[in-house]
Amino acid sequence: MTLDRLGRRLGSLRLSVTDRCNMRCGYCMPNEDYVWLPRPALLTYEELDRLAGIFAGLGASKIRITGGEPLLRHDLPHLVGMLARRSSIRDIALTTNGILLERMAVPLRAAGLHRVTVSLDTLRPERLQRFAKSGQHAQILAGIDAAIDSGFATVKLNAVVIRGYNEDEIGSLLAFGKARGIEVRFIEFMDVGGATTWTPDQVVSRAEMLATIERDWGPAEPLPARGEAPAERFRLGDGTGFGIIASTTAPFCGACDRSRITADGTWFTCLYSDGGLDLREPIRAGATDRELAEAIATHWGRRVDRGAEERLAVAGRGVLHSIERLRDDPRREMHTRGG
Ligand code: GTP
Ligand code: 5AD
Ligand code: SF4
Repeated sequence: MTLDRLGRRLGSLRLSVTDRCNMRCGYCMPNEDYVWLPRPALLTYEELDRLAGIFAGLGASKIRITGGEPLLRHDLPHLVGMLARRSSIRDIALTTNGILLERMAVPLRAAGLHRVTVSLDTLRPERLQRFAKSGQHAQILAGIDAAIDSGFATVKLNAVVIRGYNEDEIGSLLAFGKARGIEVRFIEFMDVGGATTWTPDQVVSRAEMLATIERDWGPAEPLPARGEAPAERFRLGDGTGFGIIASTTAPFCGACDRSRITADGTWFTCLYSDGGLDLREPIRAGATDRELAEAIATHWGRRVDRGAEERLAVAGRGVLHSIERLRDDPRREMHTRGG
């Protein structure tokens, strides 16, 4: 097994297939304009699939496809099909904003995608317009319903809760999930790269979210076996399950088995790390699978990242990166790193 310096295994890999997005969520892409990765730098599906196979050989048998918005990449089911043919990959999931999901859900399921997570922070179209500069609220809801009808093992919702935006919608999002039999995960606002408007007072903490839910829904029983997943899971008296991802106030770096590859083939071993390992250059220079596997295993073996825990210790915590630093290296952005 490939272990890092803190004894954490290489378990799950997030593959970003594009840095482009058709939304502008205030916690991720609040700025006017962005520096994009150059198109020729994007890994092809063949290159992404090859890397996924090498990572799976090292123990990363869970793959999550991310973006930007991954459904903006042409013919995503083709990549899913390639990954699904590898017996070493046992779980293939997708994180999407849902805008293009209605049409894609069936082809993605048919290609072998197991699980879908849709970001949905608000049930009010006018809030989506204001906060995420998108008029596509109805399309997102249609995408969620299409995913539910397509036979995925699970469909989940992600809601980042921000004071002054949607903290009054925790109960209605929970009810929305309950009515559809899907789990909602409430996420603390994180000071990741790209969140250039982050301030501590906008963070609605895990404790506050739980208090809000318990006030209206009664006691939330914690469910065991969180393992390496970022979400803590709970169940309410009526059987409704939900999750909380407390990356800001209660980080879980000690159990973090995840890493991410940007669409241009840079491998980051932490959401917060400043530098990554360039895998595109060796791939395009003709490195063998074995050479790539060795480079990856060596890099993981040196990993000491605890980004979210380190941020927790910063006094007077403010934004992680200035806009200038983000423009200097767009790979610092959450939308390039894929969350
Ligand atoms: P599953 O556990 O496979 O269902 O998915 P997931 O929760 O890992 O993935 P998802 O894309 O739904 O991410 C949910 C939230 O967790 C997002 O807000 C991410 O930013 C956050 N998250 C994902 N990876 C990390 C990480 O490595 N560190 C921290 N601190 N947060 C993360
Ligand atoms: N804080 C918390 N979650 C974030 N995401 C993007 N930016 C942030 C942030 N600043 C989440 C989105 C999406 C996932 C890919 O990343 O909610 O579900
Ligand atoms: Fe929103 Fe995701 Fe797009 Fe970021 S990448 S703007 S979180 S939809």
